[in-house]
Amino acid sequence: MIEPGKDCRLCGLCEGRTNLVLPSGDLDSPVVLVGEAPGENEDLQGKPFVGRAGDILNKYMAEVGLDRGRVMITNTVKCRPPDNRAPEEDEMAACRPFLNSELKGRKVIIGLGKSAVKDLMGYTGPMAAVVNTKQRIVVDGEEVEFIPTYHPMATVYRKEAREQLKTTLRTVLEEYL
Ligand code: URA
Repeated sequence: MIEPGKDCRLCGLCEGRTNLVLPSGDLDSPVVLVGEAPGENEDLQGKPFVGRAGDILNKYMAEVGLDRGRVMITNTVKCRPPDNRAPEEDEMAACRPFLNSELKGRKVIIGLGKSAVKDLMGYTGPMAAVVNTKQRIVVDGEEVEFIPTYHPMATVYRKEAREQLKTTLRTVLEEYL
């Protein structure tokens, strides 16, 4: 895997950065979960999904019996966007070589939410139309399986989205680990 240097200036997100947020969990896992972007807690701690979204993800993982340490977790971009806005296309593109190096050779990639699904699958339609479908994406010239699903924050007030995300996590456990 390649990672940005601590003084990376490949896009404007560097301006607000406290820490780069690099992948965590089992770095050799066959499964990678890709979120949107670091939030405030992630920026302060330098680790993905350690704030509210992480608490929600941890809760669902515990409910389906999936140990968070068995998967790798990362984001489309490694630096926090201002005011927690979604990362822009040029920012995701600048960070893409690092993400590609994290995804190559895995059994399955899980796209958590619209930004990851846009970046990796090029899809910008409604999530409901693609959630939990098995797709093939090309990463650096190699095909990898890809499953789009809801972002943890999108499940807060939506039972249907919550059930779909838990279905994804169950699929990870039963079919890919
Ligand atoms: N924290 C992350 O690391 N990624 C997200 O998408 C949301 C919160």
